[in-house]
Amino acid sequence: MWGGAVAANQVEGAWNEDGKGPSTADVATAGSREVPREYTDGVQPGRFYPSHEAVDFYHRYREDIALFAEMGFRAFRTSVNWSRIFPNGDEAEPNAAGLDFYDRLVDELLAHDIRPVLTLSHYEVPYGLVERYGSWRDRRMVEFFARYSESVLARLGDRVDHWLTFNEINAITLFPFVPAGLRFAEGENRDAVIYQAAHHQLLASARAVELARQYSPGSQVGMMMLYPTTYAQTCHPQDALERVQMMRPHWLFPEVQVHGRYPSWAEAFLRGKGVTLDLQPGDAELLARGTVDYIGISYYMSVVASHQDGGEISHGNIAGGFRNPYLAESDWGWQIDPLGLRLALNELNDRYHKPIFVVENGLGAYDELTADGRVHDPYRSEYLAAHLRQIHAAMTEDGVEVMGFTPWGCLDCVSMSTGQMSKRYGLIYVDRDDAGQGSLRRIRKDSFEWYREVIATGGASV
Ligand code: BG6
Repeated sequence: MWGGAVAANQVEGAWNEDGKGPSTADVATAGSREVPREYTDGVQPGRFYPSHEAVDFYHRYREDIALFAEMGFRAFRTSVNWSRIFPNGDEAEPNAAGLDFYDRLVDELLAHDIRPVLTLSHYEVPYGLVERYGSWRDRRMVEFFARYSESVLARLGDRVDHWLTFNEINAITLFPFVPAGLRFAEGENRDAVIYQAAHHQLLASARAVELARQYSPGSQVGMMMLYPTTYAQTCHPQDALERVQMMRPHWLFPEVQVHGRYPSWAEAFLRGKGVTLDLQPGDAELLARGTVDYIGISYYMSVVASHQDGGEISHGNIAGGFRNPYLAESDWGWQIDPLGLRLALNELNDRYHKPIFVVENGLGAYDELTADGRVHDPYRSEYLAAHLRQIHAAMTEDGVEVMGFTPWGCLDCVSMSTGQMSKRYGLIYVDRDDAGQGSLRRIRKDSFEWYREVIATGGASV
């Protein structure tokens, strides 16, 4: 499945239209590579929140989908914004206007022969749930999420055949507010809160899988994780051990979502962090029932593990490690490593034996709209081509089953980590700047034409 990917809060805008409530994304101010975003206590007057208008996909989706169709997309990944459906998160009934929007969106995609791939939760927790329940630290979230999932699945399940439960579910351990709305009290054991919240998300994911079987029979439901391929810095055995220890918080999630149970090492791993999970009767059975059909991954970069001071640090938006001297970096310092994607696919295939969908990959870069009214971005197509060659090698030389490729931000959108517009991933340029100024006009980049050819030739042109 060739296509592209975005997330609701990074493209839709219309943050308070048609009954939508605020989400965690709507309290994130604009930042940059140097200045971190602030996650304010509610929406505060006078502050600039890039998600509030984003790139106005909510009103322009028809135009955007026509452009995706022109590129030959067969799949489009986006998310359903929970707070469009349940504005505060804990209502008894869904907001009909919110469901109507996704209904129209799905129909528009299908009319263009594009398959919707829908993520139920992509960094969008209704802010009301953060205020009233402390978000995912509270077990009641499982039921709120199940109610939300049921509403979405009941409405769209007949037309959507690929679902993902939580975006980058493993990000919670490194970046707890954005994926899970977690805030901490002073002196609290953060790991205890994080892993309990993660347990609630795993239960919620299992509930969503069960509901999908009921309301969207025959559909495929995936888990989704960010995959930071990790190298031991040297052949020192301690570096190899350090690498395993760095990967465990990531592997924990597919272990549960694919195998339906915590792995044998989980208890000792959690004990080492001073964490004892509150496991209740029925949890184990639910996890065992709610296993997924496939693994969705985002892959952007790799990192290095060392048991000692390994030198300079290199960081992406969530995962980080030591700098790798063999790799170049993006404008935001992310290490570019196409071969690391082949390794990621192999590692996941060896461990979990499930089909893998590369639902995010791409290059965040500064683009220039030149006098000829175009964006010449050979760096983007080179990045994507290099990664596609490694996917091809994983499929043909290593026997990995790869279901599809949906590069990130096919349409320029608000950066999740920095809130910038100038950190662009798209094949389609959107005229909007970091301060929210611009006509929102869409312009085909050179990479648009390049990707159209890639899809038309089934990848052969790469
Ligand atoms: C992934 C997220 O981590 O990376 C996306 O799922 C995000 O939401 C993407 O936009 C790129 O990261 P960023 O921080 O450059 O926008």
